[in-house]
Amino acid sequence: MFSHLEPLPADPILGLSALFKADTNPSKVDLGVGVYRTDAGETPIMKAIQAAYERLVANEGSKVYIAPTGWPGFTDAAAELALGVALKDKLKGQYGAIQTPGGCGALRLGFELIKHSAPETTVWVSNPTWANHVPTIKAADLTTAVYRYYDRASTSIDIDGMLEDLKDAKAGDMVLLHASCHNPTGADLDLAQWGKVIELIGERGLVPFLDMAYQGFAQGIEEDAEPIRQVFETLPEAVLSYSCSKNFGLYRERTGCLIVKSNGQDAEKALVTNMARLARENYSMPPSHGAALMTTVMEDADLRAMWQAELTEMRDRVNGLRRTLADSLTQKGFGDRFGAVATQTGMFSLLNLSPEEVAALQKDHAIYFPANGRINVAGLTQANIPYVADAVASVV
Ligand SMILES: Cc1ncc(COP(=O)(O)O)c(C=O)c1O
Repeated sequence: MFSHLEPLPADPILGLSALFKADTNPSKVDLGVGVYRTDAGETPIMKAIQAAYERLVANEGSKVYIAPTGWPGFTDAAAELALGVALKDKLKGQYGAIQTPGGCGALRLGFELIKHSAPETTVWVSNPTWANHVPTIKAADLTTAVYRYYDRASTSIDIDGMLEDLKDAKAGDMVLLHASCHNPTGADLDLAQWGKVIELIGERGLVPFLDMAYQGFAQGIEEDAEPIRQVFETLPEAVLSYSCSKNFGLYRERTGCLIVKSNGQDAEKALVTNMARLARENYSMPPSHGAALMTTVMEDADLRAMWQAELTEMRDRVNGLRRTLADSLTQKGFGDRFGAVATQTGMFSLLNLSPEEVAALQKDHAIYFPANGRINVAGLTQANIPYVADAVASVV
């Protein structure tokens, strides 16, 4: 049965991590895998999560199964963050939510729900998009199409191209959009551009699928959620995959949520029971630990304030690194070539470098990131930016 299987090549980003670990250059810099890091290069447990953990250990008392929809209160807490209290209450009964194993689990379950409900759907993705999107859509046996999004030459969003391409979508097609902190480009639509996209989606009868993996990393928790709120307020149907991996630092605990709005009869019950059935066929029910921690933080005013303060610190650190890197590269005589790095958002930017230049940075300077030029800005430090800027200047 299995003897014909051949080993597959390493995942490009995880493969880079292994190469980075093996590199003995003391100046090496890891800008590959997308996790938040401190100046010391660490990804610590957030303080509010640690405090919630200590409470949970003291009180949990059982490891009996949780419900297929997840830890009590978790989907409500996630919906509150994404939609805000007022809209969440207003839409009560019109949306269903289920806890999932991470944002990836929410994406996969969401696409399976679409396959189950409307098997002919084409899912439109941005060019470029996160490397795991298309494989996940295809694994759910749906078709993909691509819309223009980021123009590498001008390092900005091609909104006209995007709208033009989406005009080719047929009614009922799905548009996958990054709610904030676009991965890999770091370039987000502004609210006026969101307005145009939402209008077109409404006019054409398309359905938006928002992927939110970085709430709080762009402008702030509330600001980053604005596109989600406009979409869920305005359009009759919408899907949201929500990840707590980055903003609660829960990566390995696999904590996510799928929220779907429908204009059908008995929408909440229909959605939740169908999502739970699909989950049951896959993994039965989600793990509890990360969701229990997130819910504990969200339901306690002190822990919530502590979490918000730490998230603000993380956002400020990344934005500070962005400005320093952009300034350092400008001082090397690059003009505005890397200027957009300063104003892009979230963990990533797509550096305006060729694959050969990226390879030279790795070979000659032990600076590791994938060939498409995507850097994890959080992997920089104020101390190593001059080294990185010098290296870029020497290979370009
Ligand atoms: C755009 C995007 N969506 C979803 C995810 C899913 O994250 P996770 O499954 O770790 O929660 C990520 C993580 O890197 C991401 O960048």
